[in-house]
Amino acid sequence: MDFDTNITDELLATTRAVRKRLDLTRPVPREVISNCLDLAVQAPTGSNSQTWRWLIVEDADKRKALAELYKKSASGYLASAAEQAGDDQTKRVFSSAMYLMDHLHEVPVHVIPCVEGRPPAGTPAAMMAGLFGSIFPAVWSFQLALRSRGLGSVLTTLHLLQEEAAAELLGIPDNVMQVALLPVAYTKGTDFKRANRPPVSDITHWNSW
Ligand SMILES: Cc1cc2nc3c(=O)[nH]c(=O)nc-3n(C[C@H](O)[C@H](O)[C@H](O)COP(=O)(O)O)c2cc1C
Repeated sequence: MDFDTNITDELLATTRAVRKRLDLTRPVPREVISNCLDLAVQAPTGSNSQTWRWLIVEDADKRKALAELYKKSASGYLASAAEQAGDDQTKRVFSSAMYLMDHLHEVPVHVIPCVEGRPPAGTPAAMMAGLFGSIFPAVWSFQLALRSRGLGSVLTTLHLLQEEAAAELLGIPDNVMQVALLPVAYTKGTDFKRANRPPVSDITHWNSW
């Protein structure tokens, strides 16, 4: 099978962190989430461990409580980061992040990717790479699958500063580690653009550093 790279390249290049353009009024059917997760778990895991776990939060009271935990972690950090932001792109990111913080409870679905197993303090970097490397490829596949169906999301990690409280709220056992929170909704329009990035030649080394 030959892929149409016009389409696959567009998907890869324009799957953005969506916050202000999440449609807070349109419900998201469970089937769409399940189909996207079905694709996500085709991603690789270290030693084929497949330790990924997914918690989907639709319940309005729980989303409200999660949004409060998120705000507790995020407000101080985002306010000072927004003040220090220099270039226009970074300023836009923090304005958008503040918007998400204030509207997170309204986003119809919160997806919390988790890993079964919790690394003890002092775990070597190689083990940590294996652990996080066994969930984030799936998270990104999930985001790409959403985008190709007219939905959007943004990978967030700020609520993890309140991981214990979130675990208690959602009944997540101690040996299951949350790694992110993805607000998921249909997007307002589907035309997203490439972001500014440095030329790859500036950040790539061939054969030796
Ligand atoms: C590891 C990681 C953690 C992130 N955490 C947050 C977060 O807590 N809140 C948020 O609004 N965005 C978060 N983001 C989204 C980034 O701000 C966003 O990807 C970046 O600004 C680039 O935007 P783009 O993905 O549209 O190119 C995170 C992204 C990554 C990769």
